[in-house]
Amino acid sequence: MSGRSTFYVTTPIYYVNDVPHIGHAYTTLACDVLARFMRLDGRDVHFLTGTDEHGQKIETAAAAAGLAPQAYADKVSQSFRDLLGTMNYSPDNFIRTTEKRHYAACQALWEKLVAAGDIYLGKYAGWYSVRDETYFAEGETEVGPDKKRRAISTGAEVEWVEEPSYFFKLSAWSERLLALYEKNPRFIGPDSRRNEVMSFVRGGLQDLSVSRTSFSWGVPVPGDPKHIMYVWLDALTNYITECGYPDTGNPNWKYWPADLHMVGKDIIRFHCVFWPAFLMSAGLEPPKRVFAHGWWTIEGQRMSKSLGNGINPAELVNAYGLDPVRYFLLREVPFGNDGDFSRRALIGRLNADLANAYGNLCQRSLSIIAKSCGEQVPPKGAITDADTALLDRARRLLAIVRAELEEQSFHKALTSIWEVIADANRYVDAQAPWALAKTDPVRRDTVMWVLAETIRRVTLLVQPFMPDSTAKILDQLAIPADARTFAAFDRELESGTTLPKPQGVFPRFVEPAAAAD
Ligand code: MSP
Repeated sequence: MSGRSTFYVTTPIYYVNDVPHIGHAYTTLACDVLARFMRLDGRDVHFLTGTDEHGQKIETAAAAAGLAPQAYADKVSQSFRDLLGTMNYSPDNFIRTTEKRHYAACQALWEKLVAAGDIYLGKYAGWYSVRDETYFAEGETEVGPDKKRRAISTGAEVEWVEEPSYFFKLSAWSERLLALYEKNPRFIGPDSRRNEVMSFVRGGLQDLSVSRTSFSWGVPVPGDPKHIMYVWLDALTNYITECGYPDTGNPNWKYWPADLHMVGKDIIRFHCVFWPAFLMSAGLEPPKRVFAHGWWTIEGQRMSKSLGNGINPAELVNAYGLDPVRYFLLREVPFGNDGDFSRRALIGRLNADLANAYGNLCQRSLSIIAKSCGEQVPPKGAITDADTALLDRARRLLAIVRAELEEQSFHKALTSIWEVIADANRYVDAQAPWALAKTDPVRRDTVMWVLAETIRRVTLLVQPFMPDSTAKILDQLAIPADARTFAAFDRELESGTTLPKPQGVFPRFVEPAAAAD
């Protein structure tokens, strides 16, 4: 067994009634960057994503598509699996709630909730939104000018449901949930969401309907198969199915409790209220942290299938390149806030941050080395104050980025890295190595060593965000595979190492119309 500390990170599992758009790509991207960072940082990582395939919404969508629910789920689930390749995600597994092992986990969890005395049979009479797969109290809904009743918070239509139902005694869990939040201030991030969840729980919790009888596409309740488990109870369980539940002797059980459930702000209540209550009732530990990010809108509007305005990640990647898209999504908007998607902003970042700042730093430094330093890492001579200042800033970056990512502050991590890139570009201008060629070639060599070493450190840290481009830059610096982890962060570049021919990694984006001129 390895003694490395584990890091278990999960995405929400995606409903299979919609094809993936950049909103979905965003959640998984954030997890992918964390998973890659933690692997490079020596952690034993388990990164899980997958699809949520049961419930009334999927049953209805399958019927509309003229397919049996399983065939429909197979088809749409595959489009989420395809997204992994398109976006270069690195999950350790892709889970589907239609897997046998998941039925077993859900039913085992149910039996624990029953044994704890937290489940009782009753009758549900109230409003339900199929789109949100959520129950709403009358006061959380309103009737619009079109006479249709909708949930105020989500705008989704609700329907009246009256049927026998099992309930989970959520009302009995308020105090224990509040104690959990108090004791673990990091349980919910960002802080604004923590306050939102705490005031919701303080407002008093209603018992939760956890089974339905009006459709059949889902996990049957043990001993009463007319009842299908509420799709959220089923879906949340995926996180422990993956760890082998109920077999706590499973090798994957070491990953529980999860270090982080990454979710969008719309599903925080399910993860921060219902899920820890289910787990504690079953005698299991709650996750260590749930972080809720904001939403991407398109011209101020929600992206949705019905509006047909979802941006297809594959189309973006084709148009602008994979790594620029990965960079943009995490750099543009402070993680946790909402943002409106704009191609102009994407192109602006691509040209300014990637082509001009980072790309140009690499390109001009590496081409001087190729031309004037004999295609080798140049010798490091006497170091000046300016050299030390730049090298120190690059050296300190690992701790800074680590701390930012601990808080899921992707935009801050990238800003910190790009400040050092800007410093390095200023350093090139100030040192003017091209002028030193004639006057002081020994000093020129040292300047080029300092630049190459700075690029190495920066690039090691950019790897989780832009894996392909950084691999190319590290190849150009002849960094061996085993020197690309953070354990090798302080292993300085060795003078005399032969370098391959440099090649630009971040071309400027030119509008196709302009390019044709
Ligand atoms: N199936 C549930 C999750 C169950 S987890 C146990 C679900 N699925 S979803 O497909 O509707 O949404 C999955 C994730 O995508 C959510 O975190 C949601 O916030 C995110 N996004 C969907 N649209 C989004 C945007 N427009 N912008 C950012 N994220 C968005 O909910």
